[in-house]
Amino acid sequence: MRAIWITKAGGPEVLAVRESPDPEPGRGEVRIAVRAAGLNFAEVMARQGLYPDAPKPPCVVGYEVAGVVDALGAEVTGLEVGQRVLALVRFGGHADTVCASAERVLPMPDDLSFTEGAALPVNYLTAYHMLFRVANLRPADRVLVHMAAGGVGIAVLQLCRTVPEVVTFGTASAAKHAVLREEGCTHPIDYRTEDYGARVRELTGGEGVDLVLDPLGGRDWKRGLGLLRPVGQLIAYGFANLSTGERRSVRRLVAQITGVPLLTPVAMMDRNRTVSGVNLGHLWGRSDLLREELAALLDLWRAGAIRPRVDGVYPFEEAAAAHRRIGERRNIGKVVLVP
Ligand SMILES: NC(=O)c1ccc[n+]([C@@H]2O[C@H](COP(=O)([O-])OP(=O)(O)OC[C@H]3O[C@@H](n4cnc5c(N)ncnc54)[C@H](OP(=O)(O)O)[C@@H]3O)[C@@H](O)[C@H]2O)c1
Repeated sequence: MRAIWITKAGGPEVLAVRESPDPEPGRGEVRIAVRAAGLNFAEVMARQGLYPDAPKPPCVVGYEVAGVVDALGAEVTGLEVGQRVLALVRFGGHADTVCASAERVLPMPDDLSFTEGAALPVNYLTAYHMLFRVANLRPADRVLVHMAAGGVGIAVLQLCRTVPEVVTFGTASAAKHAVLREEGCTHPIDYRTEDYGARVRELTGGEGVDLVLDPLGGRDWKRGLGLLRPVGQLIAYGFANLSTGERRSVRRLVAQITGVPLLTPVAMMDRNRTVSGVNLGHLWGRSDLLREELAALLDLWRAGAIRPRVDGVYPFEEAAAAHRRIGERRNIGKVVLVP
């Protein structure tokens, strides 16, 4: 099989396509001939040496694939060789062949393309889980989402549209605002040229928002807490602020980590605030939940309520360009890799 290896921590040039023997599916696993694999921000951070969950390099990362079942391990029921499927894997998805636990493999709708299929699982599960499991989004809620033009951000905007009158505030570079509006963002905010906190306060008459979805981390978590109105909730789900440029910067790491707010239950109680955390990669033991949420998302896809936005499709040999596309903040939506 061929796979994209992170040979060591560093810039995109550390990526290399290498050959190795095909894996054999173990008990309860299916082997998938991968047609498309999602590239996530976490995997860019893994390459930079900034993602502690990733295996030590040299390694193959990748959380999600779309492809065709080509072999079944013992005791697998309900799936067949030749079936088109989506799968969550941890890790090894950036390969042309992967073995996945059948618990985390779902048949794909016939008219969902492999490219779109690979763009769906991680981004939409993260967004769906935050909005509907952790936050209980209600009509007319106000939601602030950062990295709004990224894969998760666009999924959040589309899912917010499924609840009446939700007002969304999305931070992204100005060039991406037209797309944000198309995706239903009520108030795109250019965080590069204006203070997003001041803008949110102005737009809400000083009241703030009900939900802050923050994958930036550090000082932004502190700012987000200050933007919550009573009964508001902040969900921390990433630490993108650790990542700048192509390589790790120790100075930036220290500045961001020391900016993380210190919270006490008493302060949360007295201010009627909730802080939650979401890490999909740490929910692997809850396959029941992941399957249920993924099935709900496929129903939303069938109903036309969600449509993954694919920014670009890169052959494995151009993985470095795919990583640069995200690292240089040029992507709008999902970056997909194809063998
Ligand atoms: N906890 C979980 O389970 C989970 C699951 C999935 C994703 N996440 C997190 O959610 C966030 C979004 O992930 P994603 O895959 O949707 O992202 P993505 O599509 O790769 O988004 C990249 C975009 O984010 C913006 N950005 C903001 N800060 C950045 C930085 N330091 N470096 C590069 N780009 C930056 C840029 O857009 P602008 O030009 O508009 O700023 C860039 O184009 C990440 O922090 C990721 O780790 C968490």
